[in-house]
Amino acid sequence: MFRIVNKKELNSSVTLLEIEAPFVAKKAKAGQFIIFRVDDYSERVPLTIADYDREKGTVTIIFQKVGLSTNLLASKEVGDTIRDFVGPLGIATEYEGYKKVAVVGGGVGCAIAYPQAKALHELGVAVDVIAGFRNKDIVILEEEMKAVADNYYLMTDDGTKGEKGFVTDKLKALIEGGNQYDAVIAIGPIPMMKFVSLTTKPFGIKTIVSLNPIMIDGTGMCGGCRVTVGGKIKFACVDGPDFDGHEVDFDELMNRNSIYKEQEAEMAKTHIC
Ligand code: FES
Repeated sequence: MFRIVNKKELNSSVTLLEIEAPFVAKKAKAGQFIIFRVDDYSERVPLTIADYDREKGTVTIIFQKVGLSTNLLASKEVGDTIRDFVGPLGIATEYEGYKKVAVVGGGVGCAIAYPQAKALHELGVAVDVIAGFRNKDIVILEEEMKAVADNYYLMTDDGTKGEKGFVTDKLKALIEGGNQYDAVIAIGPIPMMKFVSLTTKPFGIKTIVSLNPIMIDGTGMCGGCRVTVGGKIKFACVDGPDFDGHEVDFDELMNRNSIYKEQEAEMAKTHIC
């Protein structure tokens, strides 16, 4: 059993939990994920590691309450335990040779973008963070991002905080303004990652996207995270979650990803605790 030692509501739908899991904390790296199961009757759910503390032996996860399992997890309090917390899984992000990187986070994707920015910062890489949200009420991890970024740019769709506009507007302006990025790391909704990749392609900037959101059981068996990359079939949970954004077939991915939306919403409505 894994004990919850800290809990924070980051906004009305996003929760942070710090969980005692010393063996996971010992080996965790940015870009990897864990699989949790709340109790014996719950499904397995993969979530990217948002942070870890090797000394305390804790791992932090940040998640949006979107369905039955994430709502059940969010209902747990400090001192409660969850049944399974397995990891770290997936291939950690490679940072070799980078001097300057732009990390782009969209919405709750900032929870995954943060450990990337932090890891790069700890390696001495210059990091520009561009964080995008629909409005001021759902901004998360602002202070944490500022602490690890050389420059932090906050964008909101409606202009209620930071600059009005999309992350791609800012990214394009920064590239055209002379910033020479060795890579762009983009994490957020699939359409956002698609448009970040389209923005960087004409400039030939290596672009890494994290396809964690498409995972289901995280075992390589369900096939739910199947994605076409460079014309070849890949599985996000086994071959990723990171992929070259210029090679990912985002249109196919978006079509497949929306197949179970109605059922998910129905389950959440009828089973929320
Ligand atoms: Fe099931 Fe990858 S999440 S195969």
